[in-house]
Amino acid sequence: MKTGKPIIIGCDHAAYELKEKIKVYLTDKGYRLEDAGTKSQASVNYVDFGKKVARAVSIGQYSKGILLCGTGLGMSMVANRFVNVRAALCSDVFGAKMSRLHNDANILVLGGRVLGDILAFEIIQTWLDTMFEGGRHLERIQTIDN
Ligand code: RB5
Repeated sequence: MKTGKPIIIGCDHAAYELKEKIKVYLTDKGYRLEDAGTKSQASVNYVDFGKKVARAVSIGQYSKGILLCGTGLGMSMVANRFVNVRAALCSDVFGAKMSRLHNDANILVLGGRVLGDILAFEIIQTWLDTMFEGGRHLERIQTIDN
C-alpha cells in the first residue's frame, strides 16, 4: 500500500472502460484511489466529473488526479479553469514525464478513445514516478495563477 493521499480519478462514459482498467492497474500496484465517477457507460456530461476532480485538487483535498474523456480535450478545458490546477493532456510518455518535471502537473488527462490500455498504463506510471524539478520551473508555474 502506498502512503500519502489517494489519487482521485474521474471520467465520462466515453472513457469508463479505460478508467475501470486503470483502477485495477493502480490498485494492483498499491495505490489508493477515490473514484469520482462516472460509474457506468450511460451518457453523461464530462464537465460534471471534470469539475468534481478539479475542485478536489484545487482545494488540496487530493494532491493528484486523473481525468479521462473520449479525447481528453473537454476534461483539460474544464480542469484548467480551476486555481492551483495544472492539468496535462498526455498521449505519449515523454509528454507525461515533462509535465511532471517542468510543469508539476497535478492532474493527468487521458483520451479513452485515443489511447490503448498499455500505453495509458505506461503514461500513468511515468507520470506518477516523475518528480517536479523545481528551481526555475517553480518560479514559472507560480506566475500561472497570479
Ligand atoms: C463524449 O462523446 C465526448 O464528447 C467526450 O468524451 C470528450 O471527448 C469531450 O471532450
